[in-house]
Amino acid sequence: MVKRPIFLLFAWLAFTPPCWVRGLAADEEPAKKISAEDAKFYSEKVAPILAKHCFSCHGPDSELKGGLFLGARDAILEGGESGAAIDLDDPRGSLLVDAINYETYEMPPEEKLPEEQIKVLTKWVELGIPIPADAESERPIVKKQ
Ligand code: HEC
Repeated sequence: MVKRPIFLLFAWLAFTPPCWVRGLAADEEPAKKISAEDAKFYSEKVAPILAKHCFSCHGPDSELKGGLFLGARDAILEGGESGAAIDLDDPRGSLLVDAINYETYEMPPEEKLPEEQIKVLTKWVELGIPIPADAESERPIVKKQ
């Protein structure tokens, strides 16, 4: 008799749609999972801007200007010489958002990004800079001057 409720639980799980079970699993590791929508937003909107306008100085084949690497989430959170490039509690007050608005630094230095691209990067920071794990790149080894 004691075993019965457990049997019922397994029966319930067996007939539960798989998305339920995935939902439970996702709750256990919130830091690593990002939604398909966020992954798409990064790959289609954010990555091309970073590659074209930032990676020559802050990317996997760069000298990491200002000590900042923008190719991996941990590295962005750690930031460069001035500390964290983004503030998850105050996304719009982030150093990175200030820099692309030409408020503290002026990034990219040669010309301010078009408003549309500033909006994309600001939205990305507000989402908590989601980057799919397979889209992250390795931090380059740079000699300290
Ligand atoms: C041509 C090179 C170049 C490009 C392209 C560039 N940066 Fe920079 N970045 C620098 C340099 C140099 C610094 C160091 C501060 C300075 O000397 O102005 C810096 C510093 C920064 C900092 C502050 C880092 C710190 O901790 O001090 C941020 C944030 C930043 N860049 C973001 C960006 C973003 C976002 C892009 C793309 C939209 C970008 N940068 C593109 C050269 C560049």
